[in-house]
Amino acid sequence: MLHIYDDEEKLLAGIADFFIQQALEAIGRSGRFSVALSGGNSPKKLYTLLASEKYRNLISWENVFFFFGDERFVPHDDVQSNYRMAKETLFIPLAIKAENIFPVDTKLSPAESAKQYEEIIHKFFPQGKSFDVILLGLGDNSHTASLFPHTDVLNEETAFVKEVFVQEVNQFRITFTAPLINSAKVVAFLAFGSSKASALYLVMKGAFSPSDYPAQLVKPLNGQLHWFIDKEAANLIAP
Ligand code: 6PG
Repeated sequence: MLHIYDDEEKLLAGIADFFIQQALEAIGRSGRFSVALSGGNSPKKLYTLLASEKYRNLISWENVFFFFGDERFVPHDDVQSNYRMAKETLFIPLAIKAENIFPVDTKLSPAESAKQYEEIIHKFFPQGKSFDVILLGLGDNSHTASLFPHTDVLNEETAFVKEVFVQEVNQFRITFTAPLINSAKVVAFLAFGSSKASALYLVMKGAFSPSDYPAQLVKPLNGQLHWFIDKEAANLIAP
C-alpha cells in the first residue's frame, strides 16, 4: 500500500500513527510488539517523534521489543552505529529497558555476529512466527537494509541474517536477508525527499532486476507491504 503525503511533517506523523496502531494491535493480540528498526538518517525524525509528548504515552513501551534490520559493523558508540542512533533518539528518551533491546554484537567477527543474531531471533520467535513490523529505508541506489546492489547476500534463500562486506561503503554490515524481511507481518518503507525519487521509480516501475534494485526483493509472503513517502520522493511514480 502506497501512502503519499504532501510534506515530510505529515509523512512522519502518518508513519508514527501507523507505528502506534500496529503496536496496539500486536500488544492486544499477543502482549508484545516486535519491531526491527531501520538505520540511516530518514528514521531519526520518526524515532524522535515517537519519543515526543505527542506519542510517548500512547503505548506501554515495556511490551515493545526492538531489533535492527541491519547494522554497520562498528562499535556501538561509533557515530555510524544504527544502535547508537536509536539509543539517542528513542531508547534513552523513552527509558527503554535493556531487556527490550536486541543490538547486533559488533565485537565478534562479522560471521559470528550474524550467526549469533540469527540465533537470538530464532529464540525470540516461536516456530513460524516473525516480526510484527520491519521498518526499512531506501538508499539512493535502491538498496534496503544492507542489501546492496550486486552483493551475494541478495541470493540468500535460507539464512535470516548475514554478514556482507559492502565495497560501496568499504564496511562490513550485518543485515536481515530477504527471506527474513518477507516473513514479517508488516514491512513499512520510509522514504522522503527528492533524492529518493529515482530509486523509488526504478524499484516500483523499473525492470525487475533485484541485483540492481535490491528493494524489489521485498515482497512479504503473507504480510503487508506499506510505502510511506512524501510528494517529492513520489515525483516520478505519481507526478
Ligand atoms: C543503513 C540503513 C539503510 C538506509 C538507507 C537509507 O544502515 O544505512 O538501514 O538501508 O535505510 O541507506 O538511508 P537514509 O535514510 O540515510 O537515506
